[in-house]
This record gives sequence, C-alpha cells and structure tokens, in this order.
Amino acid sequence: MANLVLTHGSDEPLPITRGRLFDFPDDPIACMRKLKARHGNIAALEDEGQRVYFAFGPEFNHQILSDGTTYHSQFFAIRGSRNSPQRRLTSGLLSMNGEQHKRQRRLVMDAFLKKAILNYVPTIRKLTEEMVSEWKPGTERDINRDMTDFMLRLTSTILFGIDDAEMAYRVGHMIDHWVHMNHELGMGAFVANQDIANRYGDLLTFAGTLESEIKAMINQRKGNPTGRDALSMMISAHDSEGSISDDELIGQAALMFGAAHLTTAHSLAWTLFLLAEHPSVMGELHQELKTKLDGGFPTADQVDQLHCTERVVKESMRILPASSYSQRVSAVATQLGPFALPPSAGIVFSQFMTHHMPELYPNPEEYRPERWLHINPSPYEYLPFGAGPRMCIGAPLAMLIMKTVLPTILQRFKVTAVPMSEVSGKVISTMLCPTSALMMRLDEQDGRFEAQAVRGNIHEMVDLREVPRVVRKAA
Ligand code: HEM
Repeated sequence: MANLVLTHGSDEPLPITRGRLFDFPDDPIACMRKLKARHGNIAALEDEGQRVYFAFGPEFNHQILSDGTTYHSQFFAIRGSRNSPQRRLTSGLLSMNGEQHKRQRRLVMDAFLKKAILNYVPTIRKLTEEMVSEWKPGTERDINRDMTDFMLRLTSTILFGIDDAEMAYRVGHMIDHWVHMNHELGMGAFVANQDIANRYGDLLTFAGTLESEIKAMINQRKGNPTGRDALSMMISAHDSEGSISDDELIGQAALMFGAAHLTTAHSLAWTLFLLAEHPSVMGELHQELKTKLDGGFPTADQVDQLHCTERVVKESMRILPASSYSQRVSAVATQLGPFALPPSAGIVFSQFMTHHMPELYPNPEEYRPERWLHINPSPYEYLPFGAGPRMCIGAPLAMLIMKTVLPTILQRFKVTAVPMSEVSGKVISTMLCPTSALMMRLDEQDGRFEAQAVRGNIHEMVDLREVPRVVRKAA
C-alpha cells in the first residue's frame, strides 16, 4: 500500500493513502492498523479515484453511529432487481433507514425483550446439555466447529421454531452459504472484476432457492399461531399501521439468522481459547462456578451472580470482537474530520480498532478481565454490539447464551489449547472468524490449569504471555 498525501484546497494535507481497495477485505485488521499508524483516527483509502473512509475511536463512533439521518446503513452491496428474491432477502433491518427502520425495529424488538428471552432458556439448556453429554474427556476437538454447529441448532430453534435437527442444519447452512456469497461478490462492488461479475447469476439463483425455504418456514409458523419462537412473534407483531408483511418477514428472518449465529459462535469459541491460555483467569472463574453453581446449567438468578463470568465475556468481546468493523454510507454531503464527504461515500468504523486503543484500555493486547472492576467505558468506547439507534437487538440474548453455555461447559470439562496448534483469525464479512480449526483438549475438570504455546496470527492480536495480575475484590 503506497502512501500519497494530497492537498485539498487548503494548506493542510489530507490523510489519504493510495492503494488497492481490495487490500481492505483481504485483511481488514492489517489495513486499518496501517491507516491508523500512518494517519491517526481518520483516513481514506483511495484507488483510482474511488475512496473508502475510515474513522476510528469514540468521537467518530459517536458522530457516525448516533446520527442515523446523515449516516445510513447499507449492509448488502448486491440488492438484486426490484421484486427479486435477492432484494427481499437483503431487506432486513440493516438495510432499512429512517422511519421505516424505526417502525420495523419496534415491531421485531418484542421477540428479543427480557420476557421473550426467558422463553428460550429451556431450549438453550436442552441443546447445551445434549452437546456436553456427547463430549468425552481425553479428546481433542475443534471448538469453533462445535460452537458453530451448536449455534446453528440453537438459532434455528429459537428464531424459527425448527426443532428438527436435519432441517435446522439445512436452512442454517443455506443462509450461511448465501451470506458468504454476498460477502465475496459484494467486494466486486468496490472494483470491476469480471470473474466476480460472472458469479452474480449463481448468487441470484441461490437466493431464489433460499427464499422458497424461508417462505415455507413462514407458512409453517403461520399454521401454528401458538409458537414461542422469534419468527412466530414477528408474525403476530403489529402496530396501528398493521403487521410485518410476508416480504418483510423474509428479509428480517434472513438477517436475524445471519446476525445471530456466527457472531455468538465465534464469541464463545474465542472466549474458551482465551481462558485456556490464561490459567489465573480460568482459576478465578473456576472458583466462582464452584461456589455459585451446583454443577449444571445456571438458573436465571444464578446468572445474575456470575460477576467473574461477566467480566470474562466482556473482556473477550473487547479484545477479539466477533463483529470487528461495520460500515455506513453518507446519505447527504457532510463533514467528517478533515473530509468533505459527498453523498454515498462509504465509511468504515471499527470495534476492533477502538477496543485496542491504549488510551482507553491500557495494554490493550493483554487479556485482563479484572480491568472491568475499575472501568466503565461509554457506549462509543466499548461497542461489541454496536451503539446508537441500531445497536444489536440480540445483545441480551447473546449475553444470556454466553453466560449459561460457558459455565455449563467449564464445570464439566477442563479446556486446554492443543500445544503448537495454529490459532489464527481473519475478519470475513465484518466478523472476526478463526481461520483454522481451533483445537482444544477436553479433560475432566480438576481445577488445575496450564497455558500452551500456540502458533498463528493470534499473537498479533493478543499478548499471550501470562502477566502477573493483582485481583482486587469486586465492589
Ligand atoms: C455475540 C453475538 C453478537 C454480536 C457480536 C453482534 C453484533 C452486532 C453489531 C455490532 C450490530 C450493529 C451493526 C451496525 O451498526 O452496523 C448488530 C446489529 C444487529 N444484530 Fe447483532 N450481534 C450478536 C448477536 C445477535 C443475535 C443473537 C441476534 C438475534 C437475532 C442479532 C441480531 C441483530 C440485528 C437484527 C441487528 C440489526 C439492528 C438494526 O439495524 O437496528 N445479533 N449486531
């Protein structure tokens, strides 16, 4: 990536790097780090006259995320033609703005409020216990694969009421495949690329197949009006203007599944890995689980008492946020730092970059859950679930899943990284995903923990040398 500093009608040079726009999706974290190191918290990447803007840190997060009028969400690059399956599938909340977004968000929100979430607990419990009962001590497993399969089942059941495992996997895999195709081909929107253009047809055909499957699911739910899954609740939601139309339900269902499943799976997997590599943290957590739980799945009251578990999850989502960046598009001409943005400019903001700022989190590459005893960051300083009017509606559900599933696993099993295994991550379609099997050894829980040396680019994101830590008493 070559650096070029331009001037823009004033004596002040603009913070612009000229390079390939593809450098960004190739390796988002490396690209953002280079831009920040070179220019600071605001920069642009320019490729043959096309620019993408990057804004880092709480001030810019606030400016961009709190103002839904100036900065629109436009999550999917390929929308398909009007009345096409692709258009309907990409019409969920993250493609809506203004009044339409506000209204639809209100309508779907009921399925994610505390009262509704409590209905999902028996399912979370059943599937967690099933998973753990199949695991054997003395074995090595790809824990990310396990968490992904588990979340696929759980998300299909909670969101769509599918309790047939085979159907859950089929629909889940189809949505995953569609999300991946959108990611790969969406990059073609950045620059002309014939190979990518040739594959648009495949995406549009696949969208038709997926839509038929989702429509069948919606019809099935309509035939069972007592369902307590999120889709059933969305079907019966209504306000003075009416209910959510079938076309809108298709977009909301596809988005919900895509947004819920891998983000939560990766957060669970990263947390297990980080704990395994930090024996003193694991030890403290083990004590909490031993004293506050009775060996099984935590009750709602017990979850509220798991303060160390909460710190562990928060710190994992700080250091390796499953959603590492997202983007907005300027709806009108506006000023962002030194840049006069035209309408339709693409702007990237980043949880990963914000969470790794030393001025907000001293020694940001160190995994230190105890820092949460002393800090209380603002919503724009700590934003694993986004911030502002389109903050994640599934955040309480995701937190509940993590705060029940992790204790259930860790009471039963001691989890250790497989020595010298590869642990690497890459941001794909905004999500920080493990790029190879995340191999962990499971043993009977004996409360004795040991970190293991691992290979991979994890060392560029997390300092894995155990640091002596002073654990102060929680308030
Ligand atoms: C650890 C798990 C999760 C993470 C890290 C996560 C992260 C995020 C983030 C960062 C955003 C904001 C995106 C933006 O501003 O561009 C978001 C939005 C959203 N999330 Fe999540 N999410 C998680 C789980 C879930 C779950 C379980 C659901 C359940 C359905 C869900 C549904 C949504 C929806 C519908 C939106 C769009 C909200 C809107 O546009 O108003 N997410 N999520």
